Amino acid sequence: MDSSRPIGVFDSGIGGLTVVRALMERLPLESIVYFGDTARVPYGIKSVTTIEHFTGQIVDYLLGQRVKMLIVACNTMAAVAADVVKARAGEIPVLDVIEAGALAAVAGSSVRGVGVIGTPTTINSNAYARRMHRLDPALRVYSQACPLFVPLVEEGWLDHPVTRLTAQEYLKPVLAEEVDSLVLGCTHYPLLKPLLKEVAGERVRLVDSATTTAELAAARLHELGIASDGQRAADYRYVVTDVPLRFQTIGERFLGRSLGRVERVEW
Ligand code: DGL
Repeated sequence: MDSSRPIGVFDSGIGGLTVVRALMERLPLESIVYFGDTARVPYGIKSVTTIEHFTGQIVDYLLGQRVKMLIVACNTMAAVAADVVKARAGEIPVLDVIEAGALAAVAGSSVRGVGVIGTPTTINSNAYARRMHRLDPALRVYSQACPLFVPLVEEGWLDHPVTRLTAQEYLKPVLAEEVDSLVLGCTHYPLLKPLLKEVAGERVRLVDSATTTAELAAARLHELGIASDGQRAADYRYVVTDVPLRFQTIGERFLGRSLGRVERVEW
């Protein structure tokens, strides 16, 4: 396979840009095509059948862009539609944020007690707990849906009293248990890291699936011998299904740099 082909990264909206940001830092030679389904976000409160259908459409689009690897940056899609992605991808390797987050959480928990926060669909699917139990059957996993976090982050309330109070409420039952790791099981939560750190306290390590996904991607590309050799400069494309008002501002907050050119796809 031509190693200069891009990596396809996708999410329900622009939250997955936290994964793109981590990939750009860890793998600066790799080109990326990012797909955000901004017209149909949020997925985290939709049914499994709907999410599977949308996921299939996105995967087909990215395969048409001749990507060399697929990264499911959306925890909700990874939780309920991972099989759809793998079935369509065929030979193309697939990574997802849940696989990466689960590995990092299990490896780093010395008390073998882990908290997981995510959207209602992700938490109801129990996907994180299942993946972690495959790695360590005795691990204690405490999950908590945090439906208000996505809108709060999109509002830019990253260090706001309302967000702090919400976090204290959501985390109360998890922090009452003996946990030393908290998995940020949603694309939007890495932006809340400083606030969550403050609420969770020093004893709890935050597991950011964006950075762990980038680490896993680096390892897999090398293993498969398809890492870019840097002969061609890395190219970044952003494809979305709608360009909402404030898209640029929010997108740049997630990406931590200027977004450049954004294309709108017509289905
Ligand atoms: N991308 C979703 C996730 O990581 C959050 C936004 C949504 O609900 O679509 O779970």
